[in-house]
Order: sequence, then C-alpha cells, then structure tokens
Amino acid sequence: MSNEMKQWVLASHPTGMPTAENWQLQTAPMPEPGAGEVLTRAVYLSVDPYMRGRISPRANYAAGVGLGDVMHGGGVGVVVESNDPALKPGDIVESFRFDWQEYNVQKGSALRKVDPEMGPIHSALSYLGLPGLTAYFTMLTAGELKAGDDAVISAASGAVGQVAGQIAIIKGARPIAVAGSDEKIAWCKELGYADGINYKTAPDLTAAVKKACPHGADLFLDNTAGPIHDAVMRNLAEKSRTVICGTVALADKFEEPDIGERFLRNIMIARATIRGFILFDHADHFDQARAELSSWAKSGKLRHKEDMMQGIESMPAAFLRLMTGANMGKQLIQVSDDPTL
Ligand SMILES: NC(=O)c1ccc[n+]([C@@H]2O[C@H](COP(=O)([O-])OP(=O)(O)OC[C@H]3O[C@@H](n4cnc5c(N)ncnc54)[C@H](OP(=O)(O)O)[C@@H]3O)[C@@H](O)[C@H]2O)c1
Repeated sequence: MSNEMKQWVLASHPTGMPTAENWQLQTAPMPEPGAGEVLTRAVYLSVDPYMRGRISPRANYAAGVGLGDVMHGGGVGVVVESNDPALKPGDIVESFRFDWQEYNVQKGSALRKVDPEMGPIHSALSYLGLPGLTAYFTMLTAGELKAGDDAVISAASGAVGQVAGQIAIIKGARPIAVAGSDEKIAWCKELGYADGINYKTAPDLTAAVKKACPHGADLFLDNTAGPIHDAVMRNLAEKSRTVICGTVALADKFEEPDIGERFLRNIMIARATIRGFILFDHADHFDQARAELSSWAKSGKLRHKEDMMQGIESMPAAFLRLMTGANMGKQLIQVSDDPTL
C-alpha cells in the first residue's frame, strides 16, 4: 500500500453554476487510525445534488465545506485496518462521510456494516441508500401515498425518482414522470410509469401536466423546484400533498432568493398540503425501509440504473453531470476494485 493518497479539496465557492475549477485534486499522506478508529479504502463514492448546498457559503441545513477542506460525500468501502472490535479487515462498510478521497479514517461507530446479501454493495449508495430511502419516506410517510393517487414525480429517471415511481406502482398508484429527455421518459415508462413529460420539449408544461392527470396531482414529489414546480402547482387535486424534496433547478442561483409566481389561492382552493422533507428525520426507520427495498429489488418489483464513472479524478465531472441532467440513474464513481465481484 502506498503511503500517499489522492483527495479533492474545495478551492473556491461557486458563483452561479459550479464548475470543475471549484475543486482541486491533491496528494495527502495516508491517514493512520487511532483508538476506536478504522482505516477504509473507498470502493464506490457517491455524488448527490445536496452537495450544491455544501459548497455554498450560505447557511444550509448542514454545515458547509470550508475552503481547503476535503469535499464531503458518502461512499462504500472495505476495511483495511481496524481499532474497533466490531469491524475487521475485509468488512464492507458505508458512511455519509467517506468524502472525496481514496482512503479515510473514521470512528468505527460512524460506519455502517453493509450486508452484500441485500444487493450489490454499491446499492448502499443507490436504492438501499440515501436516494432509495428518500424515495421511500417521501412517498410513503411525508407524501401519504394512497392507492389510486396520480403521483407526479420530477427528476423521475434519477436516483430518487426511479425508485419513487416504482413505489407508487407497488402501492397501486399512478406515477407520472417529468424528466429532461425522451430517453429518460422511455426508461420511466419501461419501469411502469403511466405517463411521462419531457419538460425541455413540452410546448406548455402546465397543459402537459393537466393532460397527464386531468383531475390534478394527488401527490407531487418535487425534486427540482423551478418551472416544473410552477406547472404542477397550477394542477393540484383536492387534498393534494406536495413534498418539497430538492431544488436542483436552482443550482445556478443558489445564493439568490427564489422569486416567482405565488400559488396561495391554488393551495387554498385545493386544501393542499406542502411539506418540506429532510431524510435524516427518518433515520430510526432506515433498517426496516432498507429491508423492504431490498426484498422488492430481489423479487423484480424494483429495478434501477446506475451511471458509473471510473477513478477519483472523475469526482467533479460526475457531480456536474447531476446539475446538467447528463446522468442516467444513480451517479456513482468506482475508485478501486470491488472485492465482492
Ligand atoms: N431532502 C432530502 O433529504 C433529499 C435527499 C436525497 C435527495 N434529495 C433531492 O432529490 C433530488 C433528486 O436527487 P437524485 O439524487 O435523485 O438526483 P438525480 O435525479 O439522479 O440527478 C439530478 C437530476 O436533476 C435534474 N435536473 C438538473 N437540472 C435541472 C433543472 N434545471 N430543472 C429540472 N431538473 C433538473 C436532472 O434530470 P433531468 O434530465 O430529468 O432534468 C438530473 O439528472 C435532488 O433535488 C436532491 O437534492 C433530497
């Protein structure tokens, strides 16, 4: 094993849309585990839209990354050296703070042991991890999904959206995909979405939503904000539930106020509920949700696509794909050999 490793640090805060120049690749000494700590080799790293908030100098729901600090992020890896009796070399582990680096040292208690029997180990970052759990709790808990609901889902082919749409199908609802290309809509329909709207080519987005769900959206999983949000707000069913899950459409104006139309009368007339969502509020129920997601996947009810890039050098480029919609399914980066393959 080399005595050095590569890691990405934040070089500057973005103004507007982030660019690859906001990060810098550097070489650092191999970290050594202290008492109760574990040295882990990263195998798969995740990039997720929430990272846009972490690189903003503006206050967010979690502390941001400082200039010169290693970029935050989740990952799955293999234990190399352990000073925690609960973990041994060779164990597969996951954490929300592997960060953008080849190796890391963390307290053993910060690592979750991954059971390769539940699915391929990278699924701990995909349908059995942050995006899959987000889909599960937005639809079933915050969104109070019911059989027969017309459920509009934005970023529908993405990591969260592809799982959310299939949960709607499993529960007898009718999911409607909103996504940014015909290829993405075709994938959503292959998964069983009842209808789909390419928001980049639809001449009138509000009319397209109305056509897809004539009595309005009973449930709206809002992964983007922006014009898709506006179009669905003009098409709310009575007693509809909107879950505000993400604002990826605002990535280029993150530091600015979101100025636009107000929909208070639509919300009042529909007696609609709009609820903000943060996944970690549901942490007490992650194990039960993971078990259910895994069993759906094993029985063929839950399919998923991963968009895999290779090498630690790809981290900023992989992240930027999320901001432009270039990813097809869950964006991951393989940074070393997968010992389970
Ligand atoms: N609140 C929470 O706890 C929580 C947890 C996890 C995820 N999230 C949120 O869930 C959302 C989806 O995350 P994900 O991991 O599943 O990402 P993803 O959907 O796999 O990737 C992001 C997608 O956003 C879409 N997008 C990018 N720019 C857009 C724009 N200007 N307008 C509309 N859509 C745009 C693109 O799809 P198209 O090509 O279809 O545009 C892109 O593929 C994100 O907003 C994320 O922040 C929230």
